[in-house]
Amino acid sequence: MTTMSCRRHSCFISVVLLLLVLVVVVPSSVAIDSILSRFQQYLQIDTSHPSPNYHQAADFILSQAKSLSLESQTLEFVKNKPLILLKWTGKNPHLPSILLNSHTDVVPVEPHKWSHPPFDAAINHQNGNIYARGSQDMKCVGLQYLEAIRKLKDSNFEPLRTIYISFVPDEEIGGHDGAEKFAKSKIFDEMNVGIMLDEGLASPEDNYRLFYAERCPMWLVIKATGAPGHGAKLYDNTAMENLLKSIESVRRFRASQFDLVKAGLKAEGEVVSVNMVFLKAGTPSPTGFVMNLQPSEAQAGFDIRVPPIADQASLERRIAEEWAPASRNMTFEFKQKVSVYDENGKPIMTGHDSSNPWWSLLEAAILEANGKIGKPEIFPASTDARYFRLRGIPAIGFSPMANTPILLHDHNEFLNKEEYLKGIDVYVSILKAFASFVEAEKDTAAFRDEL
Ligand SMILES: *[C@@H]1O[C@H](CO)[C@@H](O)[C@H](O)[C@H]1NC(C)=O
Ligand SMILES: [Zn+2]
Repeated sequence: MTTMSCRRHSCFISVVLLLLVLVVVVPSSVAIDSILSRFQQYLQIDTSHPSPNYHQAADFILSQAKSLSLESQTLEFVKNKPLILLKWTGKNPHLPSILLNSHTDVVPVEPHKWSHPPFDAAINHQNGNIYARGSQDMKCVGLQYLEAIRKLKDSNFEPLRTIYISFVPDEEIGGHDGAEKFAKSKIFDEMNVGIMLDEGLASPEDNYRLFYAERCPMWLVIKATGAPGHGAKLYDNTAMENLLKSIESVRRFRASQFDLVKAGLKAEGEVVSVNMVFLKAGTPSPTGFVMNLQPSEAQAGFDIRVPPIADQASLERRIAEEWAPASRNMTFEFKQKVSVYDENGKPIMTGHDSSNPWWSLLEAAILEANGKIGKPEIFPASTDARYFRLRGIPAIGFSPMANTPILLHDHNEFLNKEEYLKGIDVYVSILKAFASFVEAEKDTAAFRDEL
């Protein structure tokens, strides 16, 4: 009997415990499911180039904005390339605002090379990975901004500063019809942006990565000319020989830069990268190329990326004097050349120490949310952040993805659901800090008044 009643007793306790567990756990797991399902919905919209479904993405974002009671407007700097701008007005709308930027487009896929269909956004139930194009670059960030705002609104947080959230088109094809036009617009001027956040990169380590600048592309084509002649004749100054001398010189420079990275002396974003991307020479024949003729022209193309800490002017001299010297009958042109300097001749970089209060706030907010941070970095390629830095706006590249292999633009791009959820809490912490920030300049004003 006693045993029996005891069993019944413990049974009763178990039921009560189970009910408690259900009451406590179920609502939050429902909340998590809906957070993940919103991310999946966004990933399922195929916004890959060359024909991104921008309108469907815009409709989705606008529906999210409505559910969050954010103001919204759709800007079309170029027809059928909508840019969605959302706004959460702060208690002091005169203070410089915060801009959270993300791009809605993604790069194309080769679906047959994926283990999971790239626009299904299925969650692998063994490991919790969400496989989809855009899961890292950068639909994660765009929706994490919104989920962080949802949490802040649920907790009745009121921002002091106005928060803008922009969803821009075309980043993956240069951003000229998206962020570039936006950053130069009157609408942007009126937003009075004090700090903007844009994309970063995943980190295979347990630290997050923060980017304060980016390398600028210089797409160089060098062309050699020389006397044509019989394929059997040894003579000087052929186009091929002239070009090969340059290629050897470029290769030595490339190796010297790469050695600095290999030796751990510099990070990837801190050196000049040079990669040969095409070679064009030879006299075509019906079966390939004429084999007994040395051609009179030869060309090579290079993708060069220059960090703003490098001396771009001296690199240009090197190109003119060593890589394409007129003395060797060579010419060169840039298919694209982005200056590392702003209009005042200063390298385009965002302050990445205590001289920039936003940087300090960001670091503290990430640590507060139990995140770790690596050394500040220069983004090795280009992002939309450059258009905002050019306008003198502090811009920081950050995608909260630690313990994640770098798979942007790769097959089987994924983000683990736990990393995604953690990133939302990191943005909650950042937005609280940014939106509440009052600059010390008030004291200076008071001081001035006293004088
Ligand atoms: C450059 O071209 C001129 C005219 O064709 C030729 O005389 C000279 O040898 C060439 N020099 C070199 C270094 O190729
Ligand atoms: Zn991106």
